[in-house]
Amino acid sequence: MAQLRRLGVLTGGGDAPGLNAVIRAVVKSSANSGIECLGIEDSFDGLIEPDRSRLLTPRDVTGILRFGGTILGTVNRGDPFQHPVATSEGTHDYSDRVVDMFHKMGLSALVVIGGDGSLAIGHRFFLRGIPVVGVPKTIDNDIVGTTNCFGFDTAVAFATDAIDRLHTTAEAHKRIMVVEVMGRYAGWIALYAGVAGGADAILIPEIPFDIDVVAARLRERDRWGAKFSIVVVAEGAFPKGGKLALLEEAHAGFAERLGGIGVQVCAALATTTGKETRSVVLGHLQRGGAPTSFDRVLATRFGGKAVELAKRGEFGTMVAFDPPDIVARRLEDIVGKTKTVPMDSDLLLTAKALGVTFGD
Ligand code: F6P
Repeated sequence: MAQLRRLGVLTGGGDAPGLNAVIRAVVKSSANSGIECLGIEDSFDGLIEPDRSRLLTPRDVTGILRFGGTILGTVNRGDPFQHPVATSEGTHDYSDRVVDMFHKMGLSALVVIGGDGSLAIGHRFFLRGIPVVGVPKTIDNDIVGTTNCFGFDTAVAFATDAIDRLHTTAEAHKRIMVVEVMGRYAGWIALYAGVAGGADAILIPEIPFDIDVVAARLRERDRWGAKFSIVVVAEGAFPKGGKLALLEEAHAGFAERLGGIGVQVCAALATTTGKETRSVVLGHLQRGGAPTSFDRVLATRFGGKAVELAKRGEFGTMVAFDPPDIVARRLEDIVGKTKTVPMDSDLLLTAKALGVTFGD
């Protein structure tokens, strides 16, 4: 096995609280093993030109553990394999350029911190000969093979706090408050934040909902004397026989943007229940701010494990949380799949047993 001299690290896809904690762990544990670390800016784009990367020493990452965002920058778009790229040395196939630059920059391995899209790209570069170790990141928690991605706990904590705040105003006005959370095609954030915040209805993509079932449950609360209700809607939730609410269709390598179902549910509940109803979209607030202690610890463990795998030459892998351990999974078993909420989820069943409606 060739000696690991210089490790590249990049962050790809939408940011998630904990990215900086991973970078810090990668840089510090590399340095303590005599490995140089090159921070690559703006995801794989930083491998196009030599001036879009920088050496990172422990000094450079001191103090970033608690910060959201990523000191390396990121991009959340398209597949680089699809598009030729203009460089200072002419137009190249993007992937050829990246492979070429990887070698020119003297890198021995690459740590790709990303969601399913960036990990899939990382896997394709692995198949083209780049030694890659993946680190799963997303607030959506939808990556298979790991029980948790860092960022998810922070997003859930923020959404729970928002639901707590909505409770008091909902109760004061005897209103229905609808809160739309992120999560793409998986209902993890909605389910966890909904349960943690004591929601009365939780609508997730895995269970197409019937608005009349939701309305009936909320009317029942009125009859008990609980004259307000909280409805948590995942951005990917949709009505039975209906379709996803989109802010923007997919185009030119950009994924479709989900959003708008909260407003629709709000209007439908106002009509069916006759109650005053308001909606709020938490949006990117869920991705910002400082990571929770859980996410800081998970991100730090992921970063340390990624360097350990690289040192052992275990490439084409992704670090994963398999409580209580951090383990390695094969990227080929991960990419192209989405971890959704299973119908036998203990949390889902518990919520149902408590009387939370999922609109089914
Ligand atoms: O994947 C993370 C996520 O925040 C999703 O929950 C959301 O649908 C999407 O990214 C938003 O992407 P963007 O930041 O590009 O609008």
